[in-house]
Amino acid sequence: MSDQVAVVAPANPVPSHIPPEQVKAFDFYADPRMSQCPFAATATLHGKERVFWNPTNWQFGGAWVLTTAEDIRFVLGSPDLFTNKGEAGFSGFVGESWDLIPLELDPPEHTKFRKLLNPLLAPPVVSKMAPGITARAAALIDNVRDRGGCEFMEAFGRPFPVGIFMQLMGLPAEQTDTFLKWEYDLLHDPDMRVKVGAAVAIRDYLRELAADRRASPKDDIASFVVASAIEGQQLTDDQVMGILYLLFVGGLDTVASSLGFFFRHLAEHPEQQEQLRRQPEMIEKAVEELLRRYSVVTSSRQCKVDVELGGVRMKQGDWITINDSLASLDPAEFARPMEVDFDRKNNRHLGFSFGPHFCMGSHLARRELAVALREWLARVPAWRLKDNAPIAVHGGGVFGVEHLELEWNVA
Ligand code: HEM
Repeated sequence: MSDQVAVVAPANPVPSHIPPEQVKAFDFYADPRMSQCPFAATATLHGKERVFWNPTNWQFGGAWVLTTAEDIRFVLGSPDLFTNKGEAGFSGFVGESWDLIPLELDPPEHTKFRKLLNPLLAPPVVSKMAPGITARAAALIDNVRDRGGCEFMEAFGRPFPVGIFMQLMGLPAEQTDTFLKWEYDLLHDPDMRVKVGAAVAIRDYLRELAADRRASPKDDIASFVVASAIEGQQLTDDQVMGILYLLFVGGLDTVASSLGFFFRHLAEHPEQQEQLRRQPEMIEKAVEELLRRYSVVTSSRQCKVDVELGGVRMKQGDWITINDSLASLDPAEFARPMEVDFDRKNNRHLGFSFGPHFCMGSHLARRELAVALREWLARVPAWRLKDNAPIAVHGGGVFGVEHLELEWNVA
């Protein structure tokens, strides 16, 4: 393929079944454009090759990249052809081999676990959590409101979802700072030893938590999980770990990153911020449109069999990169895809994926994002980007914002 894209990571050898004209390097992590805007960088892939082989994939050595919403939906909706096994590989990180559950399971196993776990994050549970979510948002905002500005990710973007995780799991609020540090070290520290240290600390904490709830059950999620059985079989220690670990990693970076992009967007579009201030009833629709415009997750699937898709022949064992933003910003499905339009109709975005692995925490995530917007709009005057302050964003497995200085007028 002709137009090679700037690449930083060394390209891996291309498997022999892939013809050279189907190869194109695109570094979802280190392409220099990722630090400007990862969404604009990936959107440059639209309207060219429908599918291409990317030899710079760091996780699997190389992977197919799908560039259309249609093909992405097909792969996500065909678990008989494409497996999730090993897609995240968190346990390998700590030298173990359990699956993140239900993420790394395929149907029919996956279906049994979703049936068991869906009620834990269903709308009635989220509604019950709502007062706590609002209180958490209000407390964090009150810490900074009178200062006239803050580094948003440190003040709110990262601590807010960690606090909600503590609430969800029934863990003591005093431990929030410990979890916040683990979250930061695991997902943001560039030093691999620090990351592994945090991964081990989280594993050990969750293991102790499971043992404690086995010995003295409480009315919380960990107690529910350790006491659960599927088809009469008590869940194993590895299954319990896979579930608790996913609840921890699934809802932190995703929410934090979304918040970062949403708040930056509203800082740069004061007229839309003002619209939501005047019409708070639009907030749910705005959240949905912002989830489309900023679909942060990139996941993977592996071919179970040989498959022909988009004019290429994929072989059993080949990995496929599923970049949700490529689907949510596909101009073939969304008119003016880069524009944020709170009134957009038929907003079939893929921010929460599609098919059997559709995000299990979507009700909670939507509520967290809506509460964050509502509380900020109600408590803080119009915020804007601080003059000349650098904004740090990144590509990767979850597109994110590292640093975002906001300011506002204080009366
Ligand atoms: C804006 C925030 C969020 C986004 C953008 C998001 C996105 C996603 C995506 C794209 C997937 C599918 C991955 C794949 O297909 O391989 C997923 C799965 C999942 N998410 Fe979320 N998520 C968010 C928040 C949350 C929260 C708050 C929780 C819970 C605490 C959560 C729990 C899960 C779980 C358990 C799965 C696995 C579902 C399955 O495999 O069946 N997520 N999420």
